[in-house]
Amino acid sequence: MEEDKSKSAHVLLLPYPIQGHINPLLQFADRLVGKGLKATLVAPVRSRDDIRRADRSALTSTNTEYISDGHDDGLPSDYSSEAYWATLRRVGSQTLGDLIARLNEEGPRPVCLIYDSFLTWALDVAHAYGILGVTFLTQSYAVSSIYSLCHRSILVVQREPGARYSLPGLPLLSLQDLPSFIVQSEGNGFFLDLLLGQFKNIEKADYVLMNSFDSLESKVSEETAEPWSPKMIGPALPLAYLVGRNARSTSTGDDQGRLVNCLSWLDERPVGSVVYVSFGSIAALSVEQMEEIASALRSSKWPFLWVVRIPFAHQQGGNQLPEGFLEATFQQGLVVPWCPQLDVLAHRAVGCFVTHCGWNSTLEGLSQGVPMVAAPLRSDQPTNSKFIFDVWKVGVCAEVDGNEVIRKGELERCIREVMEGERGAELRRNAHRWRGLTTEAVAEGGTSDNNIKELVATLSNFHL
Ligand code: UDX
Repeated sequence: MEEDKSKSAHVLLLPYPIQGHINPLLQFADRLVGKGLKATLVAPVRSRDDIRRADRSALTSTNTEYISDGHDDGLPSDYSSEAYWATLRRVGSQTLGDLIARLNEEGPRPVCLIYDSFLTWALDVAHAYGILGVTFLTQSYAVSSIYSLCHRSILVVQREPGARYSLPGLPLLSLQDLPSFIVQSEGNGFFLDLLLGQFKNIEKADYVLMNSFDSLESKVSEETAEPWSPKMIGPALPLAYLVGRNARSTSTGDDQGRLVNCLSWLDERPVGSVVYVSFGSIAALSVEQMEEIASALRSSKWPFLWVVRIPFAHQQGGNQLPEGFLEATFQQGLVVPWCPQLDVLAHRAVGCFVTHCGWNSTLEGLSQGVPMVAAPLRSDQPTNSKFIFDVWKVGVCAEVDGNEVIRKGELERCIREVMEGERGAELRRNAHRWRGLTTEAVAEGGTSDNNIKELVATLSNFHL
């Protein structure tokens, strides 16, 4: 039966304005539209390019409204994270409030604001305007639980080499497995406050959503005793990549020609032969890190697709390819500044994903059944890597030294382990199994699907 759109509840979604946080909220917006709601993504003007780079089908189904973060013309040259946050909070909460007031007047009236859990102030804005405030955690349950334990001072990290941490529902963790900012807090005080701060008013939120799924983190959800309890709705990835098959390409980018080339290049490679390498949307790698990756790709001899992102202005000197690398490998591999990652992972030519283990990349790799080489850098990535290797058993872990540089020869060893021999076959079997479980969670009647339906029912009733 055709849905009466005029009666659909209207939901606003406010991401933290970086790619790895915009993608899941935009994708979740699309999921809500699929369940009959109206959804509007609310983001700072400055995020236009990141939004354009995100999923195209979600952009078609979802409206976008822009607010100000105080930097509509770009970030200042003396940019600092602390200063940015203060302005985002001050200007962002004001312009978000103005937007809700306008929509209340002109329609469609929103019933709810789903906000990134980093943006705790958004809950006050939602409640001040009489709408529901729903927090959305973009990191895993395991990582959320570690931050929450630190926030409540239940977990106090002792920086002694050899220390082990036994936490509810988690495998035994060493210092290297913990999220980096709680271990190396010196000089990272701002980020630590931001990450732990997610939990300061979480109990006041009307709902807590998490981009994960029950069977992926069942032990964590069963054994952890957090004062907040999330509904797992993930992965929020486009359904076409999960329950359909290889609906190429809803992802987009700012250089269509190059993106299409990268998929056509994959079309020419044998099944399972390509090593795909990406370190997400933020990292800028040092000269030593780039040399180690380049050397591993050359010596492993497998075809490769390597995303080498153009660094941000404040990252000058990062992500530089070693001299002569492109010339020496032009028949072996392709280097691109950006690619439609989900299309790449869904491509039959891809046999291995060398990843920094950002939570989105982790979910994307799992959902497409691609075995991984985990090369974590910082933040939540070491903990995600531990789960990839030790819990889900879908990848191997490249050892890094204290400066986030992969140890010499490690990456080549890991690539060979995944691409060749019995271990690789076992990882592929496990990855295939996880692909099935991901599909189950999001398909009609799956755990994540049911949790979304419950949310939609709550929001629709609030609307009435
Ligand atoms: C950040 C943090 O670093 C990460 O640890 C946290 O879990 C989320 O926020 P980022 O480093 O960008 O994110 O990594 P990730 O979470 O993997 O997100 C990157 C996103 O960009 C993914 O959705 C990926 O598909 C997309 N991407 C990346 C592309 O579409 N094309 C590319 O070429 C590279």
